[in-house]
Amino acid sequence: MITFDEFKIFKFPSVGSTNDEAFEILKSTGLHPIAVVADEQSKGRGRSGHSWLSQPGGLYLSIGIPSGDLLTDSKLIVFTSLPVVEILREFGIKAHIKIPNDVYVGGKKIAGILGERKSGFLVIGIGLNVNQKSFPKSLNATSMLIETGEIHDKNELLYSLLQKFRDLLQDTNLAYHRWVSHVNVIGKNVRFIYKGKEVKGTVRTVDRNLNLVLNNGKFNIYEIFEFREL
Ligand code: BTN
Repeated sequence: MITFDEFKIFKFPSVGSTNDEAFEILKSTGLHPIAVVADEQSKGRGRSGHSWLSQPGGLYLSIGIPSGDLLTDSKLIVFTSLPVVEILREFGIKAHIKIPNDVYVGGKKIAGILGERKSGFLVIGIGLNVNQKSFPKSLNATSMLIETGEIHDKNELLYSLLQKFRDLLQDTNLAYHRWVSHVNVIGKNVRFIYKGKEVKGTVRTVDRNLNLVLNNGKFNIYEIFEFREL
């Protein structure tokens, strides 16, 4: 275990899922905040029951903290895309946020975030495609290597992510304006299912309480896009 910026960091060559590992460590040690990192995952999970391809080359990180109320936790999970986008932009990669918290470059996914709450803890898992050379076509994915032609230092990325995440923890409200400026759906027409009904409209904004504000109403993005409470 090493410590950085108050985070206790646990590194593994290979795990099932860093989110599961983080819950185990939080429960058994009571330490927090923690960061769990693995070089690869055999059972990497994505949102909505999808799997997350976790071959060597990617950054697989889970941050674990005590959980708060649902809105506070949801904001943290959603706003975690901000540090990811800001770091990518520092490398000249024009990333943007696809709500609730996917990170895309052009039409391709470069990072995903999975927030889970269990036994009084919140674990936010980040999968960032860093040094992978290629992906199965069906994933429609890209990596930092593909975008820049350069190999990136995953340790450096880890420390910048943790530093930026700590700033987020200190003030999620401060992050809101920066976060919303990277959301790609503003001004666009969207269509989704809300409480069993299809809703269509033009997006005015996403407000600071995570409501997607359309020209015809407000819809909470976690009710639209699902929040996994275990
Ligand atoms: C998604 O876009 O569907 C979310 C993907 C989240 C993947 C990360 S990788 C680290 C952490 N461990 C997991 O099993 N999943 C998350």
